[in-house]
Amino acid sequence: MGLENLKTILKSNNRTLELKSPIIGASGTYGYNDEFGDFINTDYFGAISTKGITPEKRFGNDGDRIFEVQGGMINRIGLENVGIEAFIKEKLPVLKSKNIDFLLNIAGSTVEDYEQLAEIAQKNEIKAIEVNVSCPNVKSGCLEFGLNPDSLFDLVKKIRKLYNNFLIIKLSPNTSDIKALAKATQEGGADCISAINTLRGLGIKIDFDGKNFHRKSVKGGLSGSCIKPVALYMIEEIKNAVDMPIIAVGGISKLSDLFEFLSVGADAFQIGTANFIQPSICTDLAVELSNFIKENNFKNIEELKRKIKETK
Ligand SMILES: Cc1cc2nc3c(=O)[nH]c(=O)nc-3n(C[C@H](O)[C@H](O)[C@H](O)COP(=O)(O)O)c2cc1C
Repeated sequence: MGLENLKTILKSNNRTLELKSPIIGASGTYGYNDEFGDFINTDYFGAISTKGITPEKRFGNDGDRIFEVQGGMINRIGLENVGIEAFIKEKLPVLKSKNIDFLLNIAGSTVEDYEQLAEIAQKNEIKAIEVNVSCPNVKSGCLEFGLNPDSLFDLVKKIRKLYNNFLIIKLSPNTSDIKALAKATQEGGADCISAINTLRGLGIKIDFDGKNFHRKSVKGGLSGSCIKPVALYMIEEIKNAVDMPIIAVGGISKLSDLFEFLSVGADAFQIGTANFIQPSICTDLAVELSNFIKENNFKNIEELKRKIKETK
């Protein structure tokens, strides 16, 4: 396959996650690989992050779920997913048989939900979980777990107790103090941070039929190239607050985006919304990155990272 120069090793707390490339398909944009399976070559993916899995199957939201905006999109899918039992029975064997590395993205409405998912992940020897903490805690006034450092610390610590493989916490950008959240994540015992999840947004379209106005709107999570400056800012803040590997996500769609994220300290990348525009984007970017490394005489991605980080 010839992309040896992209091998990426995330290391923290005496745990490691080995990826054959730093390019990962972001949660919610690759399903469980079923949709892409037959026509996208995942050989060049470091991993896919699964659609967020909850303890029970969820049907998601009714009505419009996707709304296109300038430079991105707003989604309100509502965590539609098959539930952990079906994932383990039906999806996991397929991922294993196809040799596709994945991060199990988990989500819950209570601390107990996350604990249950962590326990099942451990029992099934899943190598890495990515915890979506941008979910409302139904036992705590529906405040998102990940927006309060104390509740985040508590959640991470409880998951850590039950899950001993590579633990990634996916942070929300909907905060005024990402540094405090990053510190709580590290102190709770996580191995890695992925950032960012979607920003809150409202898309509105007003049509006029010559007599009346018609309004269509979708409130949900904003993603795509329009959020890249926020993601860059957040990752730089996180990197200044904690010492742990960071997976960058938010508006990545081209080689120069990877360089920008490397310059603020990213170790790997996830690509979400850009898949909807160019379904082969992960493979295309991995090949482009590998060729760039070769053609410019860098030994490997690690040497490229060092060089870019030195650039002020
Ligand atoms: C349709 C859609 C569904 C998503 N579902 C999830 C999810 O289930 N869990 C999660 O952690 N993030 C989810 N996300 C967020 C993405 O993984 C990613 O963090 C975000 O879209 C920013 O990256 P991007 O700008 O490359 O899309 C979803 C995003 C989109 C667009």
